Amino acid sequence: MGTTMPEKGTNWAALKAEMTERTQGDVKWRDGKTAVYVFNAGPDVAEVQKEAYTMFMSENGLGPLAFPSLKQMEDEVVGMGLSLLHAPEGGAGNITSGGTDSITMAVKTARDYARKEKGVTGRCNIVAPFSAHPAFDKAAKMMEIEIRRVPCADLVADVAAMEKAVDGNTIMLVGSAPCFPYGLIDPIAALGEMAERKGLWLHVDACVGGYIAPFVRMNGGDIPPFDFAVPAVHSMSADLHKYGYCAKGASTVLYRSEDLRAHMIFDCADWPGGRMVTPTLAGTRPGGAIAAAWAVMNFLGVEGYRAKHKLVTDAREAIEAGVTRLGFRILGRPQLGLIAFTHDEVDPFAVWGKLFERGWFTSLTTEPKGLHLMLSPFHAQVTDTYLADLEWALGEVKAGNAGKKREARYS
Ligand SMILES: Cc1ncc(COP(=O)(O)O)c(C=O)c1O
Repeated sequence: MGTTMPEKGTNWAALKAEMTERTQGDVKWRDGKTAVYVFNAGPDVAEVQKEAYTMFMSENGLGPLAFPSLKQMEDEVVGMGLSLLHAPEGGAGNITSGGTDSITMAVKTARDYARKEKGVTGRCNIVAPFSAHPAFDKAAKMMEIEIRRVPCADLVADVAAMEKAVDGNTIMLVGSAPCFPYGLIDPIAALGEMAERKGLWLHVDACVGGYIAPFVRMNGGDIPPFDFAVPAVHSMSADLHKYGYCAKGASTVLYRSEDLRAHMIFDCADWPGGRMVTPTLAGTRPGGAIAAAWAVMNFLGVEGYRAKHKLVTDAREAIEAGVTRLGFRILGRPQLGLIAFTHDEVDPFAVWGKLFERGWFTSLTTEPKGLHLMLSPFHAQVTDTYLADLEWALGEVKAGNAGKKREARYS
C-alpha cells in the first residue's frame, strides 16, 4: 500500500492489521510514558468517548435543524462550561474543533467588535505575554493583525509592561490560565483591572486549564480568579479535548454575553446555495466530537472530574517532590497538571534524550531550558517509574553518557 490509490480495494481485516502494524513506531502512550499530546483518563472514559463518538460520527453539526440532538448537546456542553467558569446570566459560546480554532474565533470576534463598536480602524494589535500559545500568532497572521509579545516577569504576564504595549488599536489583551510552557496562571485579576481601566477586551486562554482549574479549586487548591469572575474577561477558550477528557476535536469558545458572541457569526447569502450561517471556522462540524463531549461530561459529572483531577495533582505533587530531591528546580509554582523544571548543572535536553531511550516522550521548555510534563490521571500510577528513570538519566548525563539530543519543537 502506497501513495497511489490501489485499483482494487482491500478487506477491512487486512487494513486493520496493517494499521496496527504501523503503530509500532508510535509512542506507547497507554503505558503512561507519554506526557504530551494525549490525555489518558482511563478505560472507563475511553469507552464512553468511543461509543458516543461512533454513534454520531456521520452526523453534522452544521445542520441544527436536521440534527436538533447535536444542537441540544452543544448548548448543554456550552452551558456547563459557562457555569463552571462563572459566566453571568446571558453568557454564550460554541463548541469548536480545538484550542487553535477557539482562539482564532475569539480574535476574529474581538477584531470585529473593535471595528464596529469602538470605531477602531487601521492595523489592529493584540498584546500577549511571551508565554501565550502560538495560536494567537497564527490567528493574527491570518487576519493581518500585529501581535505584541511582552516579556514575562517571574514567568507570568507582566501587567505593567503589557500596559505600555497597548495603544488605540489594541483589540485584545491575552492572559493564560495556565500557559503551556510553565503551567502557570497569569495574574488575570490584575490584567482585568488594567483592561477595565483602558476599556480593553481581555481574553483568557484556558485551553489547558478551563476544565481542570475549577475542580482543583473544589478539591481545595488556592486557584486565583482566572475566569468570568474577573469583570473585564470578555472571552475564554477552554478545551474539552484536554483536561475535559473528551475525544479529540473539541473545545469551547465562550463569551460574557450573546452581544459579544454575535460578532463571531458568519452569515452569507451571496451565492446560489442559500444562506450559510456558521458560528465557528468550520463548515461541516463533526457530530462525534460534540456527542462525545456531552457524554463524557455527563458520565463524569463534578464528582468524576474531581476524582480524576485529584489523581493528576497527586501525580504532579509526587513528581515535584521527587525532582526537587534530584536537584531540579521547578519553574514557578504550578497548580494544575502541567509542570516544568530545570537543572542548574546539567543540560535538561540531554536528560530528555536519555529518558527517550527508556520510552518516555515528554516536552521541553526553551527559556529556560527545562523538562516539561503534561500529566493525566493515569500518570499517578507511574510517578515512581518516572522518577527512577529520571535519576538514572541524570546519572548518565553527569557521567558524560548523553544520548539523543532533541530539537525543542512541539510538532
Ligand atoms: C495554553 C494553550 N492554548 C492553546 C492551545 C492550542 O490548542 P489546540 O492544540 O487544541 O489547537 C494549547 C495546546 O496545547 C495550549 O496549551
